[in-house]
Amino acid sequence: MADDADRPSITASAFTSALSQAANGVSVVTTSHEDMEAGLTVSSMCSVCADPALLLVCVNLDNEFCTLADKSGRFAVNILPSHCMELAMVFAGLSEIPEQSRFDTGHWTSLSTGAPVLSNALVALDCELDSSLVKGTHRVFFGKVVDVRTTSGEPLLYTDRRFAVVEPVPL
Ligand SMILES: Cc1cc2nc3c(=O)[nH]c(=O)nc-3n(C[C@H](O)[C@H](O)[C@H](O)COP(=O)(O)O)c2cc1C
Repeated sequence: MADDADRPSITASAFTSALSQAANGVSVVTTSHEDMEAGLTVSSMCSVCADPALLLVCVNLDNEFCTLADKSGRFAVNILPSHCMELAMVFAGLSEIPEQSRFDTGHWTSLSTGAPVLSNALVALDCELDSSLVKGTHRVFFGKVVDVRTTSGEPLLYTDRRFAVVEPVPL
């Protein structure tokens, strides 16, 4: 019998196809350093632990966010409300708007660290970069949450390769 270490992973297409069936919230993760800003749409954000308050986000190594977040040591996770699909498209590079003009969409402010925070984010989590590690094509950023701002509303979701909104199940 093959040793566990010899067992190959499933293919990338089988993996992405399987994971596309999961439903995830959508966030725009942002950072800034000196006069530069970077941000991208992610579905990989999740909680790590509550004490200390730690979250993680996985970002493709090709994305400028990786370099800037390393330099600045800070980033913000902006959990999007259901009406922000257009902004999600802009920060995913799926609109006509060029990368350097992404922050012209939406109104941006900041909390404690100075990382860009979307004024109408459902939740904004302001993070100091705790640590990061590279796995394959992506870097996993661990953020210590040092400030938070919450509003009320419904989250934007992504499932089956499209955006979706919550439909509560009647009790
Ligand atoms: C719903 C959704 C979720 C995404 N999640 C991630 C993610 O977790 N990590 C990542 O690196 N890219 C993710 N992407 C892709 C990036 O948003 C996109 O590739 C990136 O913004 C484009 O690269 P650029 O910023 O260099 O133009 C996601 C895209 C969409 C539409």
